[in-house]
Amino acid sequence: MLFTRKAAAVWLFLTFERVLTAQIPLSSHTPSSFYPWVENDLGQWVLDEGPAVNATGHLVFETASSLLQHWANTRHRIGHTIVPGTVPVGTVLYHGALTSPHLPTALDWVAVEPDHSTFFCKGPIETGCWHLTLTVTRPMKVLYFDGNSAAKLPEGTMDTQDLVAWSEMKPERVWSEERRIKDLCKWGEKYGVNGFVRMEMNFEIMICNFTSHMEIVSFLNLASIRTGTSTDPPPVTARHVFELMHSASWRENYPGETRIMLDFSGLVSFYDTALVPSLVPRRVGLDRWDHRVAGISSEDMERVQDRLAQALALPPATTSGIDWKTVLRVVIDRYASRLEFIQHLLNLTLDDGSIFDHAQQIQRQLRTVLLPYTVFAALPPNTSVTANATSLWAAPVFRECAVSHTASIASRGTTLTPSEHLLLQAVRDTTHEICRVVTKMWASGMNLGVDAFYPPEQRPEVDRIHTLTGEWKEDVTHLISWLDWSVWVKCRPACGFEEMCYLPTWPFGFVRTPGAPPQAQWDSGSLWPDPNKGEWKRPQPKCIRRREPYGL
Ligand SMILES: *[C@@H]1O[C@H](CO)[C@@H](O)[C@H](O)[C@H]1NC(C)=O
Ligand SMILES: *[C@@H]1O[C@H](CO)[C@@H](O)[C@H](O)[C@H]1NC(C)=O
Ligand SMILES: *[C@@H]1O[C@H](CO)[C@@H](O)[C@H](O)[C@H]1NC(C)=O
Ligand SMILES: *[C@@H]1O[C@H](CO)[C@@H](O)[C@H](O)[C@H]1NC(C)=O
Ligand SMILES: *[C@@H]1O[C@H](CO)[C@@H](O)[C@H](O)[C@H]1NC(C)=O
Repeated sequence: MLFTRKAAAVWLFLTFERVLTAQIPLSSHTPSSFYPWVENDLGQWVLDEGPAVNATGHLVFETASSLLQHWANTRHRIGHTIVPGTVPVGTVLYHGALTSPHLPTALDWVAVEPDHSTFFCKGPIETGCWHLTLTVTRPMKVLYFDGNSAAKLPEGTMDTQDLVAWSEMKPERVWSEERRIKDLCKWGEKYGVNGFVRMEMNFEIMICNFTSHMEIVSFLNLASIRTGTSTDPPPVTARHVFELMHSASWRENYPGETRIMLDFSGLVSFYDTALVPSLVPRRVGLDRWDHRVAGISSEDMERVQDRLAQALALPPATTSGIDWKTVLRVVIDRYASRLEFIQHLLNLTLDDGSIFDHAQQIQRQLRTVLLPYTVFAALPPNTSVTANATSLWAAPVFRECAVSHTASIASRGTTLTPSEHLLLQAVRDTTHEICRVVTKMWASGMNLGVDAFYPPEQRPEVDRIHTLTGEWKEDVTHLISWLDWSVWVKCRPACGFEEMCYLPTWPFGFVRTPGAPPQAQWDSGSLWPDPNKGEWKRPQPKCIRRREPYGL
C-alpha cells in the first residue's frame, strides 16, 4: 500500500502505525473476548455465508420485539407468540357493552381505551348507553396472544387461541366468542390466569372474573356516540372510527401497550424450530405474510401446552433478571436508522463525476456502524485484493460486532429459561447477520479504495465504483428485507399535521363505497374485502385525514 503525499501529517502517523500492526499475521492475534466460548477461530467468521433459508431467529426477534405494538401486529396479523403477563394494580380499564348499570355477570371483555369500549356502548340516541370504568386492585395474571388476535377472520388470526382453548384449530368458530372465552378461562383457571390479552382494533382483555381483580370506578349513562334515529343501534360515525384508530396509534411502536407487562422468560414462539419443528416444512417457499400456525402437529401442540404450563407455573418474573424488551430494542435502535439511511444514500442515482465522493460518504456511514468493532489490526493485505482475502482480514471486526450484544448474556446460560435461550439465539442470529453484511460492505469499500482512512494510490475506476455501489445496494436491501422490521414501514413522504399514518386494520380500511359508514360494511358480507388479496393481506401504510371528511 502506498500513501498520497498530500495526506496530513497526523493522519500519516496514525496510518503508519496501523500498517505496521497490520502486518502481524491474524493467527497471532490475542483472542479479544473474555468469554471462552466465543468462536476465536476466525475461519468461522465467513463474510459470504448468509443464513439458511429456513432460519427463524430473525422472525423470533422481530415478533418478540414487536409484542403489544399495534403497528407491527396490524402488519403481520397472524400471531406467532404467546406470552404470560401481568396487569398492574391501578390500571384503569373500560367496558361498554351494557344495557343497564350492572356488572357483567358472565365472562366479558374490557378495553384499554374508552375510544374502544364506547364503540360497543350500544344504546339508542334517546336514552344513551351505559359505560363502565374499572380499576385493577391486585396484580392480574394474563396471557397475551400476539398478532391481530381478536380479528374475526378465518385466515388464522385466532389459531394460537384455538390451540390453547381446544387443542385444535377451529376456523368455523371464529365468531363463537362466548364459547372461546369460556373455554380459555376454564383452561386458565388452574394457572390462576384471569385474563387473555388480544388485539382487536386496539388492545383488549378477556376477563374471567370481573370482581376478583377489579373494582368499579364509575358507571355512567353516556350520550350515544352514534348518530341517526331510525336504526337501533344506529351506526357509529366515521369520526369515532378514526378516533378509535387514533387511540390505537398511541401504542403503535415501542414501547407499545405498557399497561400489560409481559414476562419474556415465559414466551412461547411458534417460530421456535426446536419446540415446533412441524411448522418448518410448512413455511418452505412462503412469504412471511403467509406463515400460519395451522398445520402444527399434535405432538408439537402438546409441547407448546407443556411449555405454557411451565411458564405459567413460574413466579411472574425472570430469574435471570434480564430485561429482554430492552435487549431487543437496543439492537433495533443501534441499526434501524443507520441501515435505512445507508439504503437511502444507495437509492440515489449518481453521475460518474460524483460517484467517488458519494461512495466515500457511504463508506463513512458503514464505518460509523462498525466503529466500536473496527479493531486496529484489521486492514486489507498489502498485496492486490482477492475476494477471499476480504473475509479473512475483516473477520475480527465481524466477530466483535456479532458477539457484542450477546456474549455477556450467554455467560449466564444456566440461569436462563428455555424461552430466554430462544430469545438469546434470536438476538444472536439477528446481530450476526447484520454484522456480517455491514462488515462485508465496509470491507469491500476498503478493498476497492473508497475509505478515506485507507486511501489508495490512485482513485478506483468509475466502473468499479458503480459495481461496488450496486453490490452494496443489493446487500443492504436484502438485509433490510430479511430483517423485516416494522419500524421501517412508514408513510413516505411523512404525513402532514392534519393526517395520520395508518395501516389498513380489520375490520376497517376497505370501504368500497366512498362515504359509506363502516357499519354497513360490517353488516353486509358482500362488502367485506377478501383477506387473501392485495393490500388487505399485505397492509401498506397511507396517510389518512384527522378531520372531516374522514376516509380510511
Ligand atoms: C506493500 O507493497 C509495496 C509494493 O507492492 C511495497 O513496496 C511495500 O514495501 C509493502 N509494504 C509493506 C509494509 O510491506
Ligand atoms: C432447513 O432446510 C434444510 C434443507 O432445505 C434442511 O436440511 C434442514 O433440516 C432445515 N432445517 C430445519 C431446522 O428444519
Ligand atoms: C370471582 O371472584 C370472586 C372474588 O374473588 C369470587 O368470590 C367469585 O366466586 C368468583 N366468581 C367465579 C364465577 O368464580
Ligand atoms: C430505496 O428504494 C427501495 C426500492 O425502491 C425502496 O423500497 C426503499 O424504501 C428505499 N429506501 C429508502 C431508505 O429510501
Ligand atoms: C483463497 O486464498 C487462498 C490463499 O491465498 C488460496 O489458496 C485459495 O485458492 C483461495 N480460494 C478461493 C476460493 O479463491
